[in-house]
Amino acid sequence: MSKTREIERVFLSRPTIEGAGVHLHRAFGYNEIPAFDPFLMLDDFRADSPDQYIRGFPWHPHRGIETVTYMLEGTVEHGDSMGHAGNVDAGAVQWMTAGSGIIHQEMPKPVNGRMGGFQLWVNLPRKNKMMDPRYQEIKAAEIPVVTLPGGVSVKVIAGTVAGNAGPVRDIMAEPEYLDVSLKPDAQFSHPVKAGHTAAVYVIGGSGKFDQHHHEDLANRTIALFGSEGETVGVNAGSSGVRFLFISGKPFREPIAWGGPIVMNTQEELRQAFDEYENDTFIKKRA
Ligand code: FE2
Repeated sequence: MSKTREIERVFLSRPTIEGAGVHLHRAFGYNEIPAFDPFLMLDDFRADSPDQYIRGFPWHPHRGIETVTYMLEGTVEHGDSMGHAGNVDAGAVQWMTAGSGIIHQEMPKPVNGRMGGFQLWVNLPRKNKMMDPRYQEIKAAEIPVVTLPGGVSVKVIAGTVAGNAGPVRDIMAEPEYLDVSLKPDAQFSHPVKAGHTAAVYVIGGSGKFDQHHHEDLANRTIALFGSEGETVGVNAGSSGVRFLFISGKPFREPIAWGGPIVMNTQEELRQAFDEYENDTFIKKRA
């Protein structure tokens, strides 16, 4: 008999200002390390008006991590030091492996007056922190939508649901990233690999993710599951529930975090900022 994981920590995302003055909600970040290992941060930048986000995220560096942008509405205009430019449109995912270093800008723009999405930061292990930068750019139509009996629909960005594998592959953290929607009172259960970290972030409606201890969780609630058990389960409330599910293999390495750069040691961090000052930060151009 498989055991369902219980919730270990649960809290609301917190209003935060980032970039050039973007008002967003941080589900977890620096203050929570290493609880979500291999994940570092999850930002929710769903917004009601352009003055909350239009100043965007002008040119800044990344090293040692992957940033994963998933848009629900609107678009993010992106350009970088490799000469790469494009938009991340509604329903699309940009899985960017910064590796040895990238300098980019990310500018949210409304479409039909609406803009919203999420950015997840996934750590890289020591042996891959200085790998060549790369992108996996996934259009909305490339993300499988798996419909399960009883009113469940799952967009599979990474991982596998009912034999349907998501398009993101070959990531060190072996992540799963699902966007799950349940109709009112529907149920969903999903396996988690032994030893992998698992969490959910509720983005609509409400549901019960732990039969023993917790009330229904609603919009902007993050729940981290304990490590005991082989599945996570949810029972949707009377108006259904929509949530992001993430799981991944923890690296259990030291974390030295300086803004957009995350290394293993303070020395590596200092070197990264020295190189940024000296214009030697970028190791690989397209
Ligand atoms: Fe960035």
